[in-house]
Amino acid sequence: MKRKLYRFISLMIIFILTAVGCSKSNNNYKEKYRPQYHFSPEKNWMNDPCGMFYYEGNYHLFYQYNPNDTIWGPMHWGHATSPDMVTWTHLPVALEPDDLGTIFTGSSVVDSQNTSGLFDKGSGIVSLYTNDNKGLQQQSMAFSTDGGKTFNKYKGNPVLKNMGARDFRDPYVFWHDNTKKWIMVLAAGVKVEFYNSSDLKNWNYLSEFGSYEGSHGGVWECPGLFELPVDGDKQNMKWVLKVDVGDNAVGGGSGGQYFIGNFDGTKFTNDNSKTTTLWLDYGSDFYAAQSFSGAKADDGSYYWLGWMNNWKYAQLVPTERWRGQATLPRKVSLKSFPEGLRLVQTPLTQLESLRYGSKKINNKVISPDKNILKGYSGESYEIVAEFELGTAEEFGFKLRKSDSEETTVSYNTKNKNISLNRVNSGEVSFSEYFKRKYTAELKPVDNKIKLHIFVDASSVEVFGNDGKVVMTNLIYPDPKSKGIELYSKGGDVKLVNLEFYKLRSSWKK
Ligand code: FRU
Repeated sequence: MKRKLYRFISLMIIFILTAVGCSKSNNNYKEKYRPQYHFSPEKNWMNDPCGMFYYEGNYHLFYQYNPNDTIWGPMHWGHATSPDMVTWTHLPVALEPDDLGTIFTGSSVVDSQNTSGLFDKGSGIVSLYTNDNKGLQQQSMAFSTDGGKTFNKYKGNPVLKNMGARDFRDPYVFWHDNTKKWIMVLAAGVKVEFYNSSDLKNWNYLSEFGSYEGSHGGVWECPGLFELPVDGDKQNMKWVLKVDVGDNAVGGGSGGQYFIGNFDGTKFTNDNSKTTTLWLDYGSDFYAAQSFSGAKADDGSYYWLGWMNNWKYAQLVPTERWRGQATLPRKVSLKSFPEGLRLVQTPLTQLESLRYGSKKINNKVISPDKNILKGYSGESYEIVAEFELGTAEEFGFKLRKSDSEETTVSYNTKNKNISLNRVNSGEVSFSEYFKRKYTAELKPVDNKIKLHIFVDASSVEVFGNDGKVVMTNLIYPDPKSKGIELYSKGGDVKLVNLEFYKLRSSWKK
């Protein structure tokens, strides 16, 4: 009898433990700080998005993933797919470490002409990535014959050996139509190197760029190279070379820069002076952005997203079950301004599918000490606003606000700059680099300033003047800090119009 009781009790314990385990893995994305409409892995560590491509109706996102811990470790490629870059389905890990090392960042292409000879059925997906073996970095290849669901490693790896370089990684590959060759751009310490290939397996060195150009505050990583129409004119194309810098970027720590110029299939030439640095983002949490290979907007723009984090504190951010998330997907185009050509990033219009509970305001004068957004609150929402400058010295929004917390997005009319202040945004004590204010120049156009702001459980992304200036920042406010305030200081500002939308979770069924 006693034995039976013991057996029953142990069975019950096993049942309860299994149930708890299951409910943990059937995670509903409701934990504290869990982004509601940004991509994040169900559990454990993520950094760079990589290997991204569009194929037969699906966007494939891979990412640097440690499936066993919430800090960086042996890198795998995590995998998710989406029909619209907004709602994601997690898939099993795509690439695991092997004899040549762990799997660092890389890129994928659709080999539609079977140039690699790897596909019996005529076409398939080829991914090139860095194998890291305790610091020895070489480029390897994997391929998929089932549209990107599963991958096989190529038997002849590595396809590009390391001849003694210390940092030699993050291959970005694309088809160059003029020379009818595959091009690989590789981060190689303080520069990038270009290679070409006819079959994705044999690579020839072409040239290098960058040793003395742009920002060198840290090691160069995660390059990208693409051609964009200037102001939408497809007869006037320019090449953009994007390169991340591991430290001392404009927002402190790691960040992204870009160069505008020409690429003739062999060599990249910079249109700007060597000392010009063009930054992708003026916040502190936009890194390792990569575009989706094979996906372009009708106007020739690219789509990309980045890792919303910074190597200065990435392993310390106060999330428990998972650590790391992606930025919003953005459309990337090239526009001319009085100071020259600049990359412009705007949030993907597909995100509008998450909107509900809209509120609108038109033509309202904002005076000091009068918060016209009293009835507004939220954790995940979007604000689209246009202001006509008046006598106010400063105006802006206080977001995720409570008595003790607030994140401020402000415009200073005298200095003509935009700021994001997260000094009192919530949990900031985990790193001395987090408690900061970020500022960038933004000139008014026709005396007007536009702010497009996305707030989520642990982030704020600001697109100023239609994406001319972008600021991407993590924040860790108390979930109860939901207040929203619109303020002006030292005078009035006219709110020409404001649209407010709550955003539903993209993770709910
Ligand atoms: C950039 C990076 C890459 C590297 C990867 C390793 O964040 O350092 O250069 O491939 O992360 O996880």
